Amino acid sequence: MERKITKAIIPAAGLGTRFLPVTKAMPKEMLPIVDKPTIQYIVEEAVASGIKDIIIVTGKGKRAIEDHFDKNFELEETLFRKGKFDLLDKVRACSNVDIHYIRQKEPRGLGHAVWTARNFIGNEPFAVLLGDDIVRAEKPCLKQLIEQYEETHSSVIGVQQVPEDQTHRYGIIEPSSVNGRCYGVKNFIEKPKEGTAPSNLAIMGRYILTPEIFSILDNQEVGAGGEIQLTDAIHQLNKIQKVCAFDFEGKRYDVGEMLGFIRTTIEFALDSKEYGTDTVELMQNLLQQRAMTSLI
Ligand code: G1P
Repeated sequence: MERKITKAIIPAAGLGTRFLPVTKAMPKEMLPIVDKPTIQYIVEEAVASGIKDIIIVTGKGKRAIEDHFDKNFELEETLFRKGKFDLLDKVRACSNVDIHYIRQKEPRGLGHAVWTARNFIGNEPFAVLLGDDIVRAEKPCLKQLIEQYEETHSSVIGVQQVPEDQTHRYGIIEPSSVNGRCYGVKNFIEKPKEGTAPSNLAIMGRYILTPEIFSILDNQEVGAGGEIQLTDAIHQLNKIQKVCAFDFEGKRYDVGEMLGFIRTTIEFALDSKEYGTDTVELMQNLLQQRAMTSLI
């Protein structure tokens, strides 16, 4: 199949329990990293990779995501009248991409969330981007995967190495061969028990999948955590079409758990064009004060 990848699914139906209570009434995808919600970084990566149509799989209490990517005439009008053109540009940038939405009616896992968008995708290869992973890279992560897909026309799953003691938190691959950055895979294992992972190559929330995944997901049984797992379906897909696990270039930030989120916020603030210099000074002062009080 030689079709171009133009469609992407962004699952955003998760309950965000790791961030409670902040996620009680606010979608975790709307938590800000400096001045943008996490999901905007994901949408920007998709667009920069050539994606034309995005579908976000939402759930209850996720309205703020739709409002964020919608046009806000009143706000734009006010900013225009006040001559705040910088802010106007930033606000407009949020609504210049067409996004579709569908609700996952029950929280049945990532595999089920992706399956929910099957009619939107139809019979073509597509991308999946998970909101818990933000990647900063010279070439957008998803674009790297798309270029790999264009060479082989089979599914491509983004992976990177993680510390051994972290493997139980991810989908892990058991590689069978390697060609450049592309691993052939023997086994895809979702959240292996601690100490049992066959490698430290973890699935990192970026996928190019062929549409055959949907007929596998039609019958996919529950796996780790009692949920329908995308990783299990990919394992089945790999038996009928070779799947490549692609070790992409770039730095991946885990915004799916609190410490990763704090770390990302600090790093993005330090690197920010607008706030970077002030943040460096602020942090130096704070750390100096701490060092002094601990000496007293
Ligand atoms: C999901 C996937 C897992 C992957 C991870 C990356 O897990 O199921 O295979 O390694 O995202 O962030 P989750 O973190 O949603 O439990």
